[in-house]
Amino acid sequence: MKLPLRYYGDPILREKAKPIEKITPEILQLARDMIETMEAYNGVGIAAPQIGVSLRIFVRRDEVALADGRFTLGPAEVLLNPEITRLSEEEETMTEGCLSIPKVIVHVSRPKKIRVRYQTLQGDWREEERDDFLARVTMHENDHLNGVLHIDRAPPHERKKIEPKLREIKRLFFL
Ligand code: NI
Repeated sequence: MKLPLRYYGDPILREKAKPIEKITPEILQLARDMIETMEAYNGVGIAAPQIGVSLRIFVRRDEVALADGRFTLGPAEVLLNPEITRLSEEEETMTEGCLSIPKVIVHVSRPKKIRVRYQTLQGDWREEERDDFLARVTMHENDHLNGVLHIDRAPPHERKKIEPKLREIKRLFFL
């Protein structure tokens, strides 16, 4: 089921989400709903706080290049209790958006390569290396679990420029 999104100004987006202790049927349903919501909004990732649940789980999908040069989106993946265990020194700056802060695109510099440890929905622990786009999505969603938003990582001059937009979002969505 597609769930309503929480928007900038909602205090849940600033909370530190709690670990998932046990993978219950409710958690499995939550994961399914998060995937449906991500797909419905055409996003590349959603973290649980964005749908009003303060738990350490997010879903993501990669951008896959097609033979003709266009891009499509890969299958959804679910990460529970994720932990970034290594960050490359090399960083890359790219533009990012966030479903909870509509139409606010900012430049964010992040490590190019990461190592992430997480639990699958079956409860197994995995550790993997990711780079480029999927590494960026993973870091963006992981930030959500710690109450951090992409605008917090934007350069100060951009942050200043988007202030009116942020006030507008607060006014529109968070009454
Ligand atoms: Ni986001």
